[in-house]
Amino acid sequence: MTTAFGATDVKAAEQFSWPAFFGPFHMIVLHFPIGFLTLTVMLELRAMLKPERNSRRAVAFALPITTATALVTVALGWMRAGAGEFDEHLLAWHRIAGIGVLFFCLFAWLMHRAFVQAPGSFAFRFGYRGLLLAAFICLSLAGHFGGSLTHGSGFLTLNAPPAMKRLLAGPPAESTTAKPAGGSLYTKFVQPAFAKKCYSCHGSDKQKGKFRLDLREAMLKGGDSGEPVVTPGDLEKSRLLYHVLLPRDHDDAMPPKGKEPLSPEEIVAVGQWILSGAKFE
Ligand code: HEC
Repeated sequence: MTTAFGATDVKAAEQFSWPAFFGPFHMIVLHFPIGFLTLTVMLELRAMLKPERNSRRAVAFALPITTATALVTVALGWMRAGAGEFDEHLLAWHRIAGIGVLFFCLFAWLMHRAFVQAPGSFAFRFGYRGLLLAAFICLSLAGHFGGSLTHGSGFLTLNAPPAMKRLLAGPPAESTTAKPAGGSLYTKFVQPAFAKKCYSCHGSDKQKGKFRLDLREAMLKGGDSGEPVVTPGDLEKSRLLYHVLLPRDHDDAMPPKGKEPLSPEEIVAVGQWILSGAKFE
């Protein structure tokens, strides 16, 4: 099992678990609190413009549903996060924002009930609206951090106009300006290919299979398999190459089925780069 081509199926050893089964449903259920909370906010805006009984009733109807869907989403998110494949830092923010949605919805609902009992109360009315606003802000943040978790940060601006990208990136860092003109095999061919086709799962935000490809030490160490992924100078011992060369429909093919594969030129560049020492410069 030392060479790439002898790597056996690690999956067979995996244990079944209910949370691991339910976790991915987070990605589906999360659309409900998004829809319901947005609807509730719109109903409230309507109630502010037309303060009549029906408007209040509509909000009273939508809020508990919003809260219930938020609860289910948080519970599933908890199971999803257990897989341990996400960037801890981003995940922590996503978790705080997600729980924030739930709590603010819950309190908004309770406060709204109090408000319905005592429609004259200034405190209830504005307290409730403040809570609803807070829930909505948390929702936006949770959505943003969640998007970065699954697609990598910067996924929104991936295809932005070049001028906007330059603006967002800020002034170029010292290191990039100091590079020799032309650049190395790594900076010119290998890294751009990895960045485009691998970092979304093996970059700073997310490490699928606990494998990280944007730092040399982490790359050499490998991921879940616990075996080195790249052995500088030795193509046969470099499983990375094996994974990118597998037929597209193979379970272990990288990037996985459905994602844009490395082009033949890129694979050749990666091979040459490994032969020449797999340096990150
Ligand atoms: C859509 C997500 C995704 C993309 C994109 C992706 N991978 Fe992976 N990669 C995974 C997952 C998931 C695993 C873990 C597979 C497993 O455990 O069965 C993995 C595992 C690996 C491993 C094995 C690590 C180990 O220690 O066994 C290598 C090597 C690898 N990927 C290389 C790449 C390369 C190179 C690219 C880009 C050409 C890439 N991956 C793109 C999801 C992805």
